[in-house]
Amino acid sequence: MLMQNYIGGFWGARRNTELLTNHLQQAMAQVSPVGLFLSDNMLAWERNLGFLEDPVFMEAYQRHATHMLEQGIVWRTHVYAWCVKQALRRTGDMVECGCYKGTSVRIACDTVRFGEQKKKFYLYDLFEHQPGMPHHDMPEHGPHLYAQVKARFADLPQVKVIQGKVPDVLATHAPRKVAFLHLDLNQADAEVGALQFFWDRMTPGSYILLDDYGWRFYREQKLAADRFFALHGLSVMELPTGQGLVIV
Ligand SMILES: C[S@@+](CC[C@H](N)C(=O)[O-])C[C@H]1O[C@@H](n2cnc3c(N)ncnc32)[C@H](O)[C@@H]1O
Repeated sequence: MLMQNYIGGFWGARRNTELLTNHLQQAMAQVSPVGLFLSDNMLAWERNLGFLEDPVFMEAYQRHATHMLEQGIVWRTHVYAWCVKQALRRTGDMVECGCYKGTSVRIACDTVRFGEQKKKFYLYDLFEHQPGMPHHDMPEHGPHLYAQVKARFADLPQVKVIQGKVPDVLATHAPRKVAFLHLDLNQADAEVGALQFFWDRMTPGSYILLDDYGWRFYREQKLAADRFFALHGLSVMELPTGQGLVIV
């Protein structure tokens, strides 16, 4: 079913997320009731929200985004799928550093019918978490997650699921040319390591999407990315979704 409005969840409420959502909904009752987006710490109204009208994307989204946190990030996921779609026109393969359960990439793959494309998608993650790691854990980290993600892509043999630490693991498994690079590692050092590794492999007009770039909580990653891209004469476009985008 196609939607005109979207109401999802929020991050970082000081006390009660439900209370915050109620207050925001009351505030939004004062504006035009069409084209309303209230999720992922964004409030927008009178927008086209064209991704909600895209039946292929929305069907994939509703099928795969089953957890509340995944359902809140529809606009972000649209940006991800859009980058993958554009990158099909560029030379090289696709990469995601930090795939976790593979939900966003699965939605993007279904949106662009990745099985019919002549490209590979390389997915990297540790899949498990140990105390003392420089990033926070995720609810479904554990010894079974790697196998679960592999099974999730069993019908797409061109999607390679690789368990290991970025950037170290890249030395053994990585594409030579890259059309799309998604970084979502929740830590600056590993993301800079990935950027250093892949920089010479990014092809002209390729896309780099930084999931955490605009988020205050992950500010260290923004500062590190800014330093990296400045060395190469580029800067990152901060998107309202909290992502950052670079076109190489
Ligand atoms: C927020 S999750 C990724 C979510 C995923 N991109 C999505 O959209 O559904 C971040 C992931 O990065 C992984 N990660 C963090 N540091 C890593 C590293 N150095 N090497 C490999 N994976 C890492 C974590 O294990 C975690 O699963």
